Amino acid sequence: MSQVTLSALKKSYGATVVVPGLDLEVRDGEFLSLLGPSGCGKTTVLRMVAGLETPSGGNISLGDSLIFSAEKGINVPPERRNLGMVFQSYAVWPHMTVLQNVCFPLKVRGIKKEEQQRRAEKVLASVQLGHLSYRKPNQLSGGQQQRVALARALVAEPSVLLLDEPLSNLDAVLRDEMCEIILELRKKYAYTMLYVTHDQKEAFRMSDRIALLDKGELVQSGSPQEIRENPKTEFVSRFIRG
Ligand SMILES: Nc1ncnc2c1ncn2[C@@H]1O[C@H](COP(=O)(O)OP(=O)(O)OP(=O)(O)O)[C@@H](O)[C@H]1O
Ligand SMILES: [Mg+2]
Repeated sequence: MSQVTLSALKKSYGATVVVPGLDLEVRDGEFLSLLGPSGCGKTTVLRMVAGLETPSGGNISLGDSLIFSAEKGINVPPERRNLGMVFQSYAVWPHMTVLQNVCFPLKVRGIKKEEQQRRAEKVLASVQLGHLSYRKPNQLSGGQQQRVALARALVAEPSVLLLDEPLSNLDAVLRDEMCEIILELRKKYAYTMLYVTHDQKEAFRMSDRIALLDKGELVQSGSPQEIRENPKTEFVSRFIRG
C-alpha cells in the first residue's frame, strides 16, 4: 500500500503556476526525497501534504483516506492528518524547555501529563538529548535545536514524517550527525518519510527513491542507482553532477 499519494496536485498563486499537476507516491516505509533546484516547488508540495497550504486542484491521500480533494471538497485540517513535520528553521518554541517543546503535541491531544513525559523522554533519548530536557532552546546549539524539532515531530507517532531541508542550517559536522540520527531512527521504526532537499549528495545518501522536480514537474523518479546510471534528461544529468 502506498502511504502518500498525490494525484494531479496543483498550486498556483494568482496567475503564477508553481505546481502544474503532480502525480507521486510515497510507499509504506519508504524514504523518498524530493530533489530539485531552488524555487522548483519542493516546499510548496510538502506544505500541501501537511495541510499548511491549500492546493488549487487535485487529490492527496494518506493510506486509504482522502485528505484533500478539490473536486469532492475534502480538506482535512493539519492537526488531523497525523503527520510529523520538521522545518528548515528549527521552529522550536523559545519560551518552553526542551521537554515542554516535545510534550506539546501530546498535550494538545489531551494526553495525561505523566504519559506525555514518559513518551517525550523516550523520544528525546532516541535523538540523544535526554540529558538536556530542562534547557531552553537558546541554551542549545543549532544541531541540538534541530533534534528537538525532530523529537517533537516524532513524539505523536505520525504515520508519515515530512522533512524540509532539516540539515541545511547546520555545519558539516552537525549535518553528518543529524543525517546518522535520521537514518538510525528510520532503521529502527521504519518511518515513511518525504524528505525535501536541493542537495543531491544528501538525497543520494539517504533515499530509497528520489523524485526530481523542475518547475513543479516531476522529471524523473527512481532509486539513486537508477538515476545515477540512467538520467532521463539533460536537466537530470546536469543536476546530479552538481
Ligand atoms: N505565497 C507565494 N506567492 C507567490 N509565489 C510564491 C509563494 N510561495 C512560493 N511562491 C513561489 O513558488 C515557487 C516555489 O517555491 P518553493 O518555496 O516551493 O520552492 P523550493 O523548491 O522549496 O525552493 P528552495 O530550495 O529555495 O527552498 C517559487 O518560485 C516561489 O517564488
Ligand atoms: Mg524550500
